[in-house]
Amino acid sequence: MSAKNHKKDDILYKEELKRKITKLKKERNAAIIVHNYQRDEIQEIADFSGDSLALARAAIDTKAEILVFCGVHFMAESASILNPDKKVLLPVKEAGCPLADMITVPSLRQKKKEFPRAAVVCYVNSSAEIKAESDISCTSSNAIEVVKSIKNKRIIFVPDKNLGRYVQSQVPEKDIILWEGYCPTHLRLTEEDVVKAKKNFPGSEFIAHPECRPEVLKLADHICSTAGMFKYARASKAKEFIIGTEGGMLYKLKKENPDKKFCLPTPRLVCANMKLTTLGWVVHSLESLVYEVKVSPQIRERARQTLERMLRVTEKPALKR
Ligand code: 13P
Repeated sequence: MSAKNHKKDDILYKEELKRKITKLKKERNAAIIVHNYQRDEIQEIADFSGDSLALARAAIDTKAEILVFCGVHFMAESASILNPDKKVLLPVKEAGCPLADMITVPSLRQKKKEFPRAAVVCYVNSSAEIKAESDISCTSSNAIEVVKSIKNKRIIFVPDKNLGRYVQSQVPEKDIILWEGYCPTHLRLTEEDVVKAKKNFPGSEFIAHPECRPEVLKLADHICSTAGMFKYARASKAKEFIIGTEGGMLYKLKKENPDKKFCLPTPRLVCANMKLTTLGWVVHSLESLVYEVKVSPQIRERARQTLERMLRVTEKPALKR
């Protein structure tokens, strides 16, 4: 078969799968919730797409009984914690987050013992058990606000050291104890990659996710969450942008800004876990109602409080452990 025919078949196959998903969604009263790093074809079928914070809110707001979460495990888990009456499905059960796996409950308990007066802020990229052990959660779009809202001077920030270090630079009045965790995808982006991309695209702006290394963040014109990147690209007068985060972002950035150019500083910015979800797996998930993500009631209740404190942070100015 020629490459052209193969491509045509692939497009027809994907259209067929999308039709199946539309039909199944109606029959099941399901909503497809999609993170910005997902494959283009998954973003195309989204009822809602966004950053981690927006997805947590969307999961609460939707009237659907079933949530098909196209993202990674901790995202579906947060949706399940906040919506215990809804069925939350993760189409590929192996879609995990290596960063979330870089901390365990015993090691966090040990750290809490060492710093008994510190408040624990956990990045949403963490397990339900870690959330249950923490005082408040945060995402990359509200981490600064969350940390500022805490009365304690000392804060144990887990598990992302790069986000924690960035927050420390923005909130110098706090004493932030960092955890040795990182996102392997963002870590692949080096200072040299950015310098080279800036040379190749003179006049462009470099937007970076706070999970990037500090040397990379130093070169950024703007640092923000994935949702913040859409906002910034829309508002900026620049015509070209270098995007310092996972490549899935290019889909919506290009769609929303047809008159602007977007590029990745390196092709290595691919999160293998995010790319596990395909249209075929979404069909399978809706047909067989798999893989349900559930949290035990004891863990759920404490993790829910941690997430809800984060959601209320703009209304509630102070939290004391
Ligand atoms: P956002 O909250 O910015 O979408 O980031 C999620 C994430 O997992 C980054 O690696």
